[in-house]
Amino acid sequence: MLVLGIETSCDETGIALFDTKRGLLSHTLYSQIEMHSEYGGVVPELASRDHIRRVLPLIKETLLSAKCGLHEINAIAYTQGPGLAGALLVGASIGAALSFALKIPALGIHHLEGHLLSPLLSTPAPNFPFIALLVSGGHTQLMQVDAVGHYKLLGETVDDAAGEAFDKTAKLLGLGYPGGAALSKLAKQGRAGRFKLPRPMLNSGDLNFSFSGLKTAVLTLINKQEITQQTSADIALAFQEAIVEVLTEKSLTALSRTGLTQLVVAGGVGANDQLRQNLSSKASAKGATVFYPELEFCTDNGAMIAFAGAMRLQASPDKIWSPASSFTVNARWNLEMLEEPDD
Ligand code: KG4
Ligand code: ZN
Repeated sequence: MLVLGIETSCDETGIALFDTKRGLLSHTLYSQIEMHSEYGGVVPELASRDHIRRVLPLIKETLLSAKCGLHEINAIAYTQGPGLAGALLVGASIGAALSFALKIPALGIHHLEGHLLSPLLSTPAPNFPFIALLVSGGHTQLMQVDAVGHYKLLGETVDDAAGEAFDKTAKLLGLGYPGGAALSKLAKQGRAGRFKLPRPMLNSGDLNFSFSGLKTAVLTLINKQEITQQTSADIALAFQEAIVEVLTEKSLTALSRTGLTQLVVAGGVGANDQLRQNLSSKASAKGATVFYPELEFCTDNGAMIAFAGAMRLQASPDKIWSPASSFTVNARWNLEMLEEPDD
C-alpha cells in the first residue's frame, strides 16, 4: 500500500511516499525558516501562502524521485492539526482534493502522532510500548506509547516548550531565529562551572516542566555582565546544561515509574548533542536504551505523516475508508483525544 504524506502544520512543507512493503520511497522538504527569520518568528499568513506555492511542485518532485505515478497512490495522509489553521488548510485541501479525484482514502493525521511514531522509521527501531520525549518548538511532553493510537500523557510543560526556551534565549544572546542549533554550537565554546542556572521543577515530584523562568534568569545574567563572546558562550552552556538536566532526569523518572526500558526522543530539540549524550549515558547506566530518529525525521517532515497514515491503515484492515467529501483542520487538538484504530 502506497501512502502520500503531506505536512503543512507550521513553517515546513513536507511531502513523502511511504510504501508498507518497500518502506520510505522518497521525501522532500521545503523550509520557510529564512523567510520568517527576518521577523524573528513564524508569520502565519506568510506561512500559508508559501505552502500554497510549494505543495504541488514538491508532490511532483516526490513522485518523480520515487518513479511513481499519481494513480499508484492508495491513500493520502495529511496533517490535520495541531498547528497554524491557515497552514493546515493548505495540506488538508490538497489532500482532500487528491483523495476525491483519485477515489482513494484521505486520513487526517495528528502532527504529534507523526513525531511519536517517527522513530519507527529508523533502524534500530523501538518496539511498543515505549516512552517518548517530545521536544519541539511548540511542545514538551512525556508520553507513554503503547500502540498506534494508544498514547498516555505522563507530563508536559506548564509554560514555554523546550525549543521555545532555546529560541528565546538564543534571541537574548543575539543569535537569530530559530536559535536552538546556534545556541548549542556556541555552548561548545562555553566553560563549565562559570554560571549556574536554576533547574525548574526538577524536584516537583511530577513529570511536568517549566522553562519560561530560565530565559528570565538568562536575561538577569546578561544584564549583570559585560557581554563578550566568551561570556555569551558560558551563558549558552549554563542554559543548555540546565535544560538538558531537567529533560534527562524527568525522562529517567518516566522510565522508572512505568517500568519501561525504551525511550524515544522526537522533535527538533532532539537534535541537541548534549541532550543526546547525557540521555544515552544516564539511560544505559540504568539498563534503558534511547532511540533517536535520524535528524531529518526529528524535525517536521512529510515522512512521519505518511508513515503514521500507513500505520493507521494497517491497524484497521477491515475498516472501510472513503474518499474525502469534505475536510476540517484542528488547530488545537489534544493527542489523548485521538481515536484508537478499529480492530
Ligand atoms: O520539531 P521542530 O522542527 O518544529 C516544531 O516546533 O514543530 O523543532 C524546532 C525546534 C526549534 O525551537 C529549534 O530551535 C529547536 O527545535 N532545535 C534545537 C536544535 N536544533 C533545533 N534546540 C536545541 N539544540 C539543537 N541542536
Ligand atoms: Zn513538529
